[in-house]
Amino acid sequence: MFDLIEKLKEHLRHASVSTDSSFKQGMAGSRTFLSDLFSEMGLSVEIVDTDLHPIVLAKRGGDPKWPHVIIYGHYDVQPADPVELWKTEPFSPIEKDGRIYARGAADNKGPQMAHIAAVAELLEENPELPLRITFLIEGEEEIGSPSLLPFLENRREELSEADLVLLSDTLSPSAEQLVVTVGLRGIVVMDVEFEGPNSDLHSGLHGGAVYNPVQALCEVCASLHDEGNRVTIPGFYDGVTEVEDWEREELERLGSSESEYKRFLGLDSLHSLDGYTPFEAIRYLPTLEFNGIGGGYQGEGSKTIVPAKAMTKISCRLVGSQDPEHVGELVKQAILDRTPEGIKVRVEMGHKGAPYLVVPPGKPNSPGDMPARLKQAFEATEKAISSEFDKPPLFLREGGSIPIIADIKNVLALDSVMIGLFLPEDNLHAPNESMNLEVLKKGIRVSKKVLEAIAGG
Ligand code: BES
Ligand code: MN
Repeated sequence: MFDLIEKLKEHLRHASVSTDSSFKQGMAGSRTFLSDLFSEMGLSVEIVDTDLHPIVLAKRGGDPKWPHVIIYGHYDVQPADPVELWKTEPFSPIEKDGRIYARGAADNKGPQMAHIAAVAELLEENPELPLRITFLIEGEEEIGSPSLLPFLENRREELSEADLVLLSDTLSPSAEQLVVTVGLRGIVVMDVEFEGPNSDLHSGLHGGAVYNPVQALCEVCASLHDEGNRVTIPGFYDGVTEVEDWEREELERLGSSESEYKRFLGLDSLHSLDGYTPFEAIRYLPTLEFNGIGGGYQGEGSKTIVPAKAMTKISCRLVGSQDPEHVGELVKQAILDRTPEGIKVRVEMGHKGAPYLVVPPGKPNSPGDMPARLKQAFEATEKAISSEFDKPPLFLREGGSIPIIADIKNVLALDSVMIGLFLPEDNLHAPNESMNLEVLKKGIRVSKKVLEAIAGG
């Protein structure tokens, strides 16, 4: 078996930032790292070209009667910015206090390593293990997986005969309480640009005569929610599903406290949709968020202008049967309709992904026709987590998005077993990201037990 910590550190040294083309070398380095590791483990590796960042596909074949698990992960990471807020170098992993600090340590290189290490150990212990395994590690997750859908469609025949997908790219509330994620929110993102006069104007000469695009944008943005934080676009909430009683019970067992949550965020108050707790709102409701806003002078001091332009970036998180394409169009149309005369508006759609939900076995609304191997995987996961972590897992929907999981369901008709291996304090997408090594090591044992159970039929 390879040295887990050394291998993880090696992977983390590759700055695989997918959104920024100046990190091409880090992306390539990360792929080479994975393909070497998989080859050492005796798997056959294929680097599948895409328009952007190739996919690493590694296979252990075998008897077609053996169960077949696809293990998903992503080798791309978020940018390290703002780099000045890091206490250590983002791409020079440091081990400290039972954690490894580096960009991508938790999202997703650490958690994916749990499954890689589990497979390496299992195959070493039992080279005859009756299990087929396909690692599908993509490089475009953090930018919306644009290449994954065409890839899945191309490989439908080969991949859809698998039994299930296993992954760890979701959150657990603490190192003691793991979550099996049974739902993900969908997403649709867009760029909005407002254009007023054909150049910045002297606000003394022209201010008061023209519609200021920053003002217009603020007015339109402000109109999109009411005082109860409800999105004011007709039809926006169509398709939002009811929350089952068992889901509310799981959430209660989670026992989140609003005051602790506020303290964690450094906030005096929260702002969720009227009638819902913040914890329900994160998991069960859609949102319309402004991810950024700009326009006009942003430098030191003042500058008396009517700016020519203003912009904002919007993302909507979706649940139930909300269709990203449709919701995106609704939002776009509302913005166009509400833009005042005198302003030219451009709305450009970005990436999107559908929501995902799988009801695990043993719940009142579990599907009666759940495939046996998937059912077995869920049951083995519950058992393995209960023994490794003392507490049984909670089965919860998650507020984040992994668009590929719904695509896999739609194209390959496969469900996913998602074991949450990162924690709130891991600083995902933020400075000083880290991975708890104890959780990682327990995660390996959980993954081994799950894979063994699936192999054992
Ligand atoms: N691992 C996260 C998804 C996630 C985050 C799950 C938090 C559970 C809790 C993933 O890498 C991610 O950040 N996804 C993006 C998707 C987007 C870029 C399409 C997200 O959720 O913003
Ligand atoms: Mn991730």
